[in-house]
Amino acid sequence: MYEARQKEEILLQNGDMGEGIAFSNLALIKYWGKDEGVQNPSTSSISVHLPLFKTYTRIFVKGRFKPDPFTHFTHSTHFSDKNPLSLPLSVMTQQTPCSLKLESFLDTFFRGWAPEIKVHVETFNGFPTACGIASSASGYAALVKALGHLIQIEKWLEPHEVKEWMESWSRLGSGSACRSISESPFVYWKKETFHQKMEDLIFHPKYQKLEHSIALVNTDAKELSSSDGHKNAPTSPFYEIRRRKNIQDCKELSEALAEGHFSLIRRITEEDALLMHGISLTGKLKHQYFSFKTQSVIERFLFLRNEMSLDEALWTLDAGKNPHFLFMPSAKPLMERLKLEFPEMKWMTGFSHL
Ligand code: PMV
Repeated sequence: MYEARQKEEILLQNGDMGEGIAFSNLALIKYWGKDEGVQNPSTSSISVHLPLFKTYTRIFVKGRFKPDPFTHFTHSTHFSDKNPLSLPLSVMTQQTPCSLKLESFLDTFFRGWAPEIKVHVETFNGFPTACGIASSASGYAALVKALGHLIQIEKWLEPHEVKEWMESWSRLGSGSACRSISESPFVYWKKETFHQKMEDLIFHPKYQKLEHSIALVNTDAKELSSSDGHKNAPTSPFYEIRRRKNIQDCKELSEALAEGHFSLIRRITEEDALLMHGISLTGKLKHQYFSFKTQSVIERFLFLRNEMSLDEALWTLDAGKNPHFLFMPSAKPLMERLKLEFPEMKWMTGFSHL
């Protein structure tokens, strides 16, 4: 990019704009803990996309100035459940300096070839952020797509290289974001001995009817960020147990998705969520992401699932208080009963079908 800039093949100037849109994703097998290296996960992970939980990002070049760390990158976030593509360009209100994390990400991106560029990042999220609905996944994926659009990355790279470029950059912002670059419903972030790669998973056609609900137990920002959760994870005695199970779990889950074996998907997903939270509770820093209310919803879900013998439903929980449920149409009556038992609770869905 530096060379292209020298030859004036990439010329950013005031008024240039890049935009990108990405869906959030929900990990069935989670990314929890890192090995040494740059955003090097300790295990592989597998996710399902949540197309109704979208982030739309626009980047505006505001001009070329001498570097000024305080006003170089600005940011504004908006909540919008409208189609963001229909929003006017004038919504740029309340510009604030970026968070340290976003600032350092943008600095890493521009420093080597355009250190004088000043940009404003505008983000629209159609769902609550930082509460375990993986807003950082869609956030960084949409940001990197917008950056790629801004510098017209497709002019420099082949389509498969563009995808790899986006996966690598978004992973630097937030590991799980690399699973939000693909448009495929099920994505495998595969850790191999010396490198990592991304795969779109084949799935049984019956999962086109898979449904999703999340119980909004609490949408305040989580008390311990996932970055700190990743750091704490290796101090738990369960960490190595989970790591050893991971290769077999990913293999079995990929096969179960392809073959339509719901009970296996359910077992692996629920076990992995329990292990992830077990790790968090037994690390050096004992942290509990879920609350009493989270537990009550999951407990009733399990009770009703047994009582009604409706097996094609599962729960999982990320680093937050809001439990997710994935279910086939056959288990809809179970979800309806569960919702009736918590009349005060708000629910959202990440998709109605795949
Ligand atoms: O991408 P991060 O660093 O926010 O970590 C994601 C952690 C989990 O959401 C709990 C699991 C996952 O794989 O998405």
